[in-house]
Order: sequence, then structure tokens, then C-alpha cells
Amino acid sequence: MGRVRASLSVSADGYMAGPGQSVEDPLGVGGRALHEWAFRTRAFRGLHDLDGGDAGTVDDRVAAEHLVGVGATVMGRHMFGGEVPWGDDPWRGWWGDDPPYHHPVYVLTRHARPPLAMRGGTTFHFVTDGPEAALAMAREAAGPDRDVSVGGGARTARWYLAAGLVDVLDLHVAPVLLGDGARLLGGLPDLAAGYRVDRVLGGEGVMHVRYVRTAG
Ligand SMILES: NC(=O)c1ccc[n+]([C@@H]2O[C@H](COP(=O)([O-])OP(=O)(O)OC[C@H]3O[C@@H](n4cnc5c(N)ncnc54)[C@H](OP(=O)(O)O)[C@@H]3O)[C@@H](O)[C@H]2O)c1
Repeated sequence: MGRVRASLSVSADGYMAGPGQSVEDPLGVGGRALHEWAFRTRAFRGLHDLDGGDAGTVDDRVAAEHLVGVGATVMGRHMFGGEVPWGDDPWRGWWGDDPPYHHPVYVLTRHARPPLAMRGGTTFHFVTDGPEAALAMAREAAGPDRDVSVGGGARTARWYLAAGLVDVLDLHVAPVLLGDGARLLGGLPDLAAGYRVDRVLGGEGVMHVRYVRTAG
């Protein structure tokens, strides 16, 4: 069976987004600083059809790993974005007509909606049966040889971490203090005992720490 992987950028005080997330400011106040390391890389920019970026750096190599070998993604509805209830002309995600996933994406929500097929092989499925059901669907879609990515946001990642379902946790720790927002870390008492540090890489203004699950 494939692994469940999460690759998440966090502030030094453990937030994945700043306070005041909105359609105008999806990362919340100050949240963009968490992703500056990735925005600079060729790998991230290429995934999002943007020109330029640094190639061959530590950050570029780490960014390039993100969706390799991933056959399905699970994400929270706040990460997908949009207003609920969905309305007549519902939100189609942040990523344009051809999102970078190119595989099925299972969006956790309490607001049912038919699947949304995009260009390039990405289909968003809206799952109202909870995180376990979404993960089961994602595993099925990914098949035995490919991994499932827990894309975020914080509430979603916390749920899978608390349930001990994330096999590989890549944290990209930016040296910013957000003070408030969508909190990933803290209040997860079993996390420390459940993982070992597998690697630590120093990037440009960011530290990449890979934790691998040891328990269960
Ligand atoms: N730093 C990173 O690497 C990274 C990665 C991904 C995302 N992000 C950021 O993370 C932020 C989103 O994180 P988030 O923690 O706010 O949200 P989220 O995990 O994306 O979504 C919250 C989920 O919880 C559900 N929910 C809310 N209240 C619930 C309840 N009472 N019972 C059951 N389900 C409930 C929501 O469904 P409903 O549809 O019912 O509301 C939604 O699926 C965004 O700013 C995004 O940009 C950061």
C-alpha cells in the first residue's frame, strides 16, 4: 500500500496560514511569508505554469518532490476555497482550468456538490462522509503503488496527524512568527512519540524537516 504524505509550510510558531483568510487573502495576514521559499523555485513555478525560479537549489529539489509518486490528494474545503453553500456558479479552486494535481482530489466539506472535472486529469470530489472516508477513496484511487497526499489546510492535516494516519510529514519551517491563524502544531500529544526525524535540510530562509512515522 502507498504511503500517506503531508508536505506543509509552517511558521516558527506552528501556523499554516495567517489570521483573516478570505477569497482576497487566501493565505491570511502574513501567510505568504510561509511559501516564499517555494515561490522562488523552478519546480514550484513550473508546476503552476510560471516562468523562472531557481533551479538545482536545496529548496528546488525539495519542492520538486512534492507530488512525485502521488496518485490522489485529500484537502480541506478552506484550502480549496470558495463560499459555502456553493451557489449556482460555484468556485472552481485557486488553480485555474488546469490545476497542478493531475489526479483525483478529495475535498472534505459538509456541503455536498457534484464532482468537478478540470483539464489535465484533476477531478475534485466533494466528500461529506468525513476524513476517513475521504482517505479511503483517495487510497483506492491512488492504487497500491502510489501515495496519497494530505494537502492541507491546518484543520485537515491536524485531523490526519491526530489519527496517526500520516506516514511521512515534511515540514518546511519558515522563521516567521504569525501569532494567530490556522494552527497546525500544538495540542497533538501523540505526535512527538509517533515520529522520528528522517532528514533535516537547510534551505534559503527555511528549514526542511522530514518526520517518518514510527508508531502503529
Ligand atoms: N502552509 C501550507 O503548507 C498550507 C497548505 C495548504 C493550505 N494552507 C492554508 O490553510 C488554510 C486552510 O486551513 P484551515 O485549517 O482553515 O481549513 P481546511 O483544513 O482547508 O478546511 C477545514 C475543513 O474543516 C471542515 N469543517 C469546518 N468546521 C467543521 C465542523 N464543525 N465539522 C466538520 N467539518 C468541519 C470544513 O468543511 P466545510 O466545507 O463544511 O466548511 C473543511 O473541510 C488556507 O489559508 C490555506 O491557504 C496552507
